[in-house]
Amino acid sequence: MWFGVISIMGDLVRAGTGAGVFGRAVDQGTVAVDLFDPRRHTRDRHQTVDDRPYGGGPGMVMMVEPLLATIAEARSAARARLDQEVPVVYLSPQGERLSQELVKEFAELPGLILLCGRYEGVDERVIDTAIDRQISIGDYVLTGGELPALVLMDAVSRHVPGTLGNSASAVEESHLDGLLDYPHYTRPEFAGGLQVPEVLTSGDHAAIERWRLKEALRRTWLLRPDLLSARVLTTIERTLLGELLAEGLQAAPERSRHGQNIE
Ligand SMILES: C[S@@+](CC[C@H](N)C(=O)[O-])C[C@H]1O[C@@H](n2cnc3c(N)ncnc32)[C@H](O)[C@@H]1O
Repeated sequence: MWFGVISIMGDLVRAGTGAGVFGRAVDQGTVAVDLFDPRRHTRDRHQTVDDRPYGGGPGMVMMVEPLLATIAEARSAARARLDQEVPVVYLSPQGERLSQELVKEFAELPGLILLCGRYEGVDERVIDTAIDRQISIGDYVLTGGELPALVLMDAVSRHVPGTLGNSASAVEESHLDGLLDYPHYTRPEFAGGLQVPEVLTSGDHAAIERWRLKEALRRTWLLRPDLLSARVLTTIERTLLGELLAEGLQAAPERSRHGQNIE
């Protein structure tokens, strides 16, 4: 998966792509990130990429020409590398909200060009002429698109084969199946005054799977009931939800929430 990131703050992007799982994916070549700096497409000695807004008002606006030239540079890099066009995404608080579905959709592509805005954003004519999609990472406003670009790249890269050591871990996470993830425990069995749920040390894989699904349903019900109402439950999920309701499906019993078996 190739990402072409257009940013005037390349260091910020580099800082987020050089470490951890993402950094390893870059080292191993499963993910590649190329940076494109709009300042390289300016003609004045200050390398100006922003100007005052027409009509007045606060803040500065990123100018059309350096951005269009940089997008053209990134598109041509994508063609040279991938032999095909890739979508140009503008990270914007006005965009479509990033979701697991979108992340999976992006992960199917060979590449993406990500435009990071700064200041008050980009001149509307850039959006009108060169942007295929606008993506927001949430209903709040950041100072620039670099962190949203990193969020998007990180989430997408998890679905690129080879990025995660154990490919099952991407399959079993929150939101992937429309449910939140089940609780996780690791050694030792007793820690912080609390015991790991007994079923997890039983070696009974069917029971473990059932317990995990039930806890995922419980969590989703308690923390994100909107996800459940948007989902068609399977037979086993309906059974487990029935059990939870019969148990009262209040907040998970205190001892369960803190790591003890509820069975
Ligand atoms: C200060 S913001 C501009 C906000 C713009 N004036 C508005 O209200 O829509 C500067 C840049 O940060 C990025 N940005 C800020 N918040 C974002 C969010 N929630 N999701 C994606 N990008 C965001 C965008 O690239 C934007 O151009």
